[in-house]
Amino acid sequence: MLADHTSQKHLFIETYGCQMNIADSELIAAILGTVGYELTDDLAAADAVVVNTCSIRDNAEQRVKGRLSELCGIRKHRKIIIGIMGCMAQRLGDELLSMGADIVAGPDSYRDLPHLFAEAELGHKSISAALSTTETYSDLRPVRLPSSAFTAFVSIMRGCNNFCSYCIVPYTRGRERSRSVQSILEEIATYQMNGRHEITLIGQNVNSYNYKDEQGNTTSFATLLSEVATQFPDLRIRFTTSHPKDMTDDILETIAKYPNVCNHIHLPLQSGSSRILKLMNRHYNIDDYMARIESIRRIIPDCGITTDVFCGFSSETEEDHKETLRIMEEVGYDSAFMFQYSERPGTYAAKHLPDDVPADVKNRRLQEIIALQNRLSLESNNRDVNKVFDVMIEGRARRSAEQVIGRTQQNKAVVLDAAPDLKVGSIVKVKITSASQATLLGERI
Ligand code: SAH
Ligand code: SF4
Ligand code: F3S
Repeated sequence: MLADHTSQKHLFIETYGCQMNIADSELIAAILGTVGYELTDDLAAADAVVVNTCSIRDNAEQRVKGRLSELCGIRKHRKIIIGIMGCMAQRLGDELLSMGADIVAGPDSYRDLPHLFAEAELGHKSISAALSTTETYSDLRPVRLPSSAFTAFVSIMRGCNNFCSYCIVPYTRGRERSRSVQSILEEIATYQMNGRHEITLIGQNVNSYNYKDEQGNTTSFATLLSEVATQFPDLRIRFTTSHPKDMTDDILETIAKYPNVCNHIHLPLQSGSSRILKLMNRHYNIDDYMARIESIRRIIPDCGITTDVFCGFSSETEEDHKETLRIMEEVGYDSAFMFQYSERPGTYAAKHLPDDVPADVKNRRLQEIIALQNRLSLESNNRDVNKVFDVMIEGRARRSAEQVIGRTQQNKAVVLDAAPDLKVGSIVKVKITSASQATLLGERI
């Protein structure tokens, strides 16, 4: 048989940043698959490397810059094509070419990849970084990455219109646009056919989803969620990230109504101070936020609640910081992503709100936030002891072959004894017997 040169090219993809980037890496894999690039999880075997990047904080960008210079080092000894994609590609553009990348492509330019790679194969550097107001890649079917998560990420909207004053995302991902209901349902159907057990609907502001079809009919997030839940009763359904200002009661009622929609809401707080929230342009104050928490507790009593929070934003005082700690305690989050403020060039805050909290103060406040959340996570897990949860099995436990790991609807990891009938995707009733800050231990009942 003659060797087919087009099928001999190998592509290695490395993903930084959020779930949107993971989903996009799967799109990139699908698009490059059409021109003969096969995925590999071995960098040494790769003809091309794609680094899908994140700009959310400066340290995320520094890591990628370090990685790029490592890859340039490898390229001195062996021919590889280096492609930088994602949010840094959009933000820095040409600068990345001069730092050694062969290809730079922003989040709305992935349809250009076959062309860009053809140029790179001929030794030409190329860039594509125009933002679109309509691109949703809805006709493309993502290809699963070797490192792919248990859950399949389904991108239902792209971009963000919120312009929180500290955030780079509206600049790197452009304007908000919702993908058609039909294409979302079709993509989920392929995941079900491929034996996936769980999907996560994703978007920077997933609950502001609003699709308008040609006839002018609109579909809200609540409607989409109930449609997905009804059509796929055997799949577990998650979604992230929700903005507090769009977390309406009809969404909460939809979550409560369908047993396959997980009782978990990730609701970023950002700060516990209404003064800071206003400077952040978050469109809610603490009373609004706490009213949302009360509605969640009332409508979905056993709902898991997690958050994002960051300290050290412009003018944050000790009082503001204490408010953040107080709200975290009052809500009692199950877990949190915690950061310190990193000024992003070009944002409203970078132009108008001085980055005036000293680094050592930011550091200390972050340590206090982390210490508090560690206690809250442990308390939350301790509250689960002796309770029974529906746990979906995700695979073998890391520490022992005799144990498996699964997840509750609330998104907590549970370790239990393996059994021949416990397969990936099985849902079993588990009674929690003990808890640590990070995991629950349980036994089947
Ligand atoms: N769209 C989501 C998540 C955005 S990015 C939302 O609005 O909640 C994820 C998290 O990174 C944010 O929730 C915020 O906590 C944090 N973040 C965003 N910009 C940041 C910055 N400039 N410095 C520090 N943290 C930031
Ligand atoms: Fe950034 Fe705010 Fe949009 Fe989230 S909602 S992506 S924090 S601008
Ligand atoms: Fe990062 Fe871009 Fe996501 S900045 S958090 S990869 S949208």
